[in-house]
Amino acid sequence: MASSKNFCESTKCLFVVLIAVAAAVATICVVTLTDETLREKKAVNPQPWWQTSIVYQIYPRSFQDSDGDGTGDLEGIKDRLGYVSDLGVGAVWLSPFFVSPMRDFGYDVQNYTDVDPLFGTLDDFKHLMEEAKQKNIKIILDFVPNHTSNESYWFYMSERGDWHYRDYYVWNDGTNCSTGCKDTGGRRPPNNWLSVFGGSAWKWSGIRQKFYYHAFLDSQPDLNLRNQAVQDELKEVLKFWLRQEVDGFRADALKFMFESENVTQNELGLKDSFAWYEDDDHNLTTNFPEIYGILKDWRSVLDDFGKDKFLIAESYGISNEIRNEYYESGAVPFNFALIQYLNDSCNAMCMKTVINDSLSGLKENYWPNFVIGNHDNSRVANRFGPETIDAFNMLLLTLPGTPTTYYGEAIGMRDTMYSYSETKDPAGLQFNETLYLEHTRDPERSPMQWDDSPNAGFTNGTPWLRVNSNYKIINVKRENRTKNSHLDIYKQLAKIRQNSAFTDKYVKFLNISDIDENPSKILSYIRTRPGSDKYLVVINFGHRYANDVDLSEGAGSSKGEVVVNAMSSYKVNTEIDLKHITLSRGQGLVIKVK
Ligand code: NOJ
Ligand code: MG
Repeated sequence: MASSKNFCESTKCLFVVLIAVAAAVATICVVTLTDETLREKKAVNPQPWWQTSIVYQIYPRSFQDSDGDGTGDLEGIKDRLGYVSDLGVGAVWLSPFFVSPMRDFGYDVQNYTDVDPLFGTLDDFKHLMEEAKQKNIKIILDFVPNHTSNESYWFYMSERGDWHYRDYYVWNDGTNCSTGCKDTGGRRPPNNWLSVFGGSAWKWSGIRQKFYYHAFLDSQPDLNLRNQAVQDELKEVLKFWLRQEVDGFRADALKFMFESENVTQNELGLKDSFAWYEDDDHNLTTNFPEIYGILKDWRSVLDDFGKDKFLIAESYGISNEIRNEYYESGAVPFNFALIQYLNDSCNAMCMKTVINDSLSGLKENYWPNFVIGNHDNSRVANRFGPETIDAFNMLLLTLPGTPTTYYGEAIGMRDTMYSYSETKDPAGLQFNETLYLEHTRDPERSPMQWDDSPNAGFTNGTPWLRVNSNYKIINVKRENRTKNSHLDIYKQLAKIRQNSAFTDKYVKFLNISDIDENPSKILSYIRTRPGSDKYLVVINFGHRYANDVDLSEGAGSSKGEVVVNAMSSYKVNTEIDLKHITLSRGQGLVIKVK
């Protein structure tokens, strides 16, 4: 055998060395080129659509009825996409429109892969997709993986103990009970776990002779996500809609996906034995780490259909550690800070803290988001007062990250108060006539106000929920014609937000105590990024007048140009002296710093 020394003295060795050098040079060239191509690409198309678009949430029942049955539908939505596109939003999230007995208005899904006749047909959905594509609007669907309707095929089969389906849900024998349990086979629920909508989370099934677990209504049995077959079914649902070319999903109630397997333990320290409270410690029924594996699986399903599919997850009140796990798993967790942690006593300093907490600790690849309202929460006008509508739209659309706007918020719709007998929401009807108002979500679900014709142009029939009587004043048609209406200001904000200064993930707050002797009034921050313009946003969220505020130091200049004006007497396109700014409550400005 030739020694290596001998070999390397031969011409063969020289040849091998030459080839190796050539290969190394080629690799370096390829790496450098790819890197450059990537960098070039990044410069041309730096961010995916979901980082630069506003997401607009539509609650299909309440947006536009096309057939006169009083309930909004897909064709109605399609017909109104012109409005959506005029608003300047790039994506629509549709709350569920799948086949459902509508006990929770679609969040109780009977068949995930078909359209409920109330909302139309699969063909209507296709037409809606076509129209959205034409208008360059992305479509995000609601995905409800935690529970189905008790009228679904899966539950029917499970309740009857079918071998394939019997473990699709969370079944339990409960414990022995001697008195008052005649209707539950002489058994009582295994523990004190509560349903979010009130009462025990366990419901007796006379057919299966067991209890089943339901985090929400008893007509919404929780799926058993520990069963691989259930996980597979859900992935098929995602694929079905991805084949229809949807652009992403908003995943419902994720923190409820797993419960403790040990059902003999009670949750401790609950405030009430009937009503469920977010701030109680639900350590046995929420936030199990098994959630992350599922998210990763969904992410890879989505990625198979394109790298820019969006997955946004609904879990209220999660810690920053849990938030980070969602990100690591390929989902963006909804940031509900503006819904959960702002109230009237939260001054500008407190708002700054709430916003900074949302942004702090986000790793480079974690994209922020903010949301100020949705179909489960009272509207902005009612939470903070109608005088703050533009101010909050300004805040939402100028903060870093993806903003989500709930339908009606751009025109400043108000909650509609319904009497107990008018109430439709099961979350309200679980309670009595005095308590229902604390729980009902009907007020924020009143029909969209399009114009001043009967029923605000929402329907030719009888609307499923009464239209707010203020519709002659608050409606799209009127606000479209009115300068500086809420709608006009919203559109201006959406437009300015397209400037690259607003599309990165950083914000710099001006030091509040420096700019005003009374720190309760003004919230002010800079949005900019290398190579782009510099904008100063200043909003008075306080209850008093802020007079002659000097923002020049924080802005690094004493001059600017007003580009959006909410409610104040400053004029757009005019110069403003940053040393003397005066704003009262609810007034705000976006200023291009000069
Ligand atoms: C969260 C949804 O937003 C809410 O409307 C629904 O009632 C529950 N999840 C249950 O699906
Ligand atoms: Mg209809």
